[in-house]
Amino acid sequence: MKESIKPSYTLHKNFRLPMGFPAEKWDSGLTYKAQARDTFIVTYPKCGTTWTQHIVWMLSHNGDPFPVGKNINLEVPHLEEVGSNFVKNLSEPRFIKTHLIYDLTPYNPDSKYIYVARNPFDCAVSFYYHTKGFIKHYDFAEGTFDDFFECFMNGEVDWGDYFDHLLSWVEHKNDQNVLFLTYESMKNNPKINIIAIAKFLGDNYVEKIENPQIIESILDHTSFTSMSKNQSRWSSQRPANMTPFIRQGKVGDWKSHFSVAQTQRLSQKLRMRIAGTEAENLWQIPE
Ligand code: A3P
Repeated sequence: MKESIKPSYTLHKNFRLPMGFPAEKWDSGLTYKAQARDTFIVTYPKCGTTWTQHIVWMLSHNGDPFPVGKNINLEVPHLEEVGSNFVKNLSEPRFIKTHLIYDLTPYNPDSKYIYVARNPFDCAVSFYYHTKGFIKHYDFAEGTFDDFFECFMNGEVDWGDYFDHLLSWVEHKNDQNVLFLTYESMKNNPKINIIAIAKFLGDNYVEKIENPQIIESILDHTSFTSMSKNQSRWSSQRPANMTPFIRQGKVGDWKSHFSVAQTQRLSQKLRMRIAGTEAENLWQIPE
């Protein structure tokens, strides 16, 4: 039998970080004091972060798309990757990306938090290709989906256990300063979700999307097809033989990766972990 391969991580205070991820920035990011005009885009990895970053960026730039030649992570930065000072130095209103669980995310009752959840099946597949593709961060180029699946099931991946993350935010789903979205709903009806984001951000954003040109531009430039172009805007370069960062953008891609046994195991875990919580209503669980 082929020996299983595991991604490599840097262990830092019980957290797995991608190799090369600056541990001191992680520590510093966690000390950031959230401000009243901050909006956090919060996700478990691979659940629609970049898509949402682009939507909020376009909403705050009158419907202009993020320009080629720049990197969105400098303007809607990843808190635990850039650290507190970098974020402090952004002009207000700030838009900040984070993958932190609720209890670690800097809190201010006047800050806003947009949480995007994605079903764990598609998340696991997307996370697998991510981990395989960023060779310098994970050294997992030869890893198989079966290898990664075991790590995902055990929460032995960067940013920890999928379910801990989801449940930490589901508890705050109905807080007045939290907008809880799903990737699947964004796919199914992007316009309704963009409008929901604008309403959540405030009246001046609603005014913007009342302009048909602005909402049409946002819909067009945040579509999967548009975001697949000029991908250096979203992430660092990956080797040409790996899948691109903006990869498939589908709901249900997991069906071509999971075995029957894997489907049953993840379904069972999902059922067990979300029982009695509001996450029960988010997705249909495969048999
Ligand atoms: P897949 O790997 O399933 O294609 P994140 O930004 O949190 O890392 O999430 C990445 C996932 O979101 C990838 O999923 C990527 O293709 C998908 N994605 C990015 N932009 C998208 C868009 N505009 N529409 C739909 N899916 C998008």
